[in-house]
Amino acid sequence: MRELLEKIAAEGEVAADGVLKVDRFLNHQVDPQLMKRIGEAFAVRFRDERPTKVLTLESSGISPALMAAYELGIPLVVARKRRPLTMTGDVYRTEVYSFTKQEANEIIVSRSLLGRGDRVLIIDDFLANGQAALGMVEIIEQAGADMVGIGIVIEKAFQDGGRLLRSRGFRVVSLARIASLDGGAIQFADEVMSR
Ligand code: G4P
Repeated sequence: MRELLEKIAAEGEVAADGVLKVDRFLNHQVDPQLMKRIGEAFAVRFRDERPTKVLTLESSGISPALMAAYELGIPLVVARKRRPLTMTGDVYRTEVYSFTKQEANEIIVSRSLLGRGDRVLIIDDFLANGQAALGMVEIIEQAGADMVGIGIVIEKAFQDGGRLLRSRGFRVVSLARIASLDGGAIQFADEVMSR
């Protein structure tokens, strides 16, 4: 998605440890017009799969996931990392380890929101090691629902997540793929990647 690549090139910053900082349009301040077009891009790519729900993990996945759900005309389910007081009743639950943050996180979704017959599209902001996406896949499996694909705004292609997910046969669509952040320079891989 050319507009996204240009935005990353113009406003992205490389943190010293190989982390891409996109706080000006995605992770802290959010550009709604760009999110709208990201939502449209995911909708075009996944509409034929007839998804019934979009699933993301709080918090930075919410902006692109909401716009994708809006474009597809289906609900967005936001998986939580902590069980809110108001989330009573049975839940699906799994644990994922973040190599980037070096911490374990729970992923929790109410059983009342996902179930058999659902066709679930996963959307997230970043794909690094793939653990968050795998955790969401696990939740979908617990629910007995079908997973129709994974939409990623920015894939760090130099980390293992994309390979891991695609090797399991999942359809992964990344709107921007970063080949390298070495030396503080942002290098892009191909523009759009799908299985
Ligand atoms: P993984 O899910 O692909 O295995 O990634 P990992 O655990 O390594 O990353 C954990 C968190 O760090 C995720 O956010 C992910 O979006 C974010 N992340 C990973 N690499 C980068 C990067 O290069 N730049 C930025 N900006 N974020 C990155 P999270 O823990 O879910 O936090 P939140 O911000 O969504 O609340």
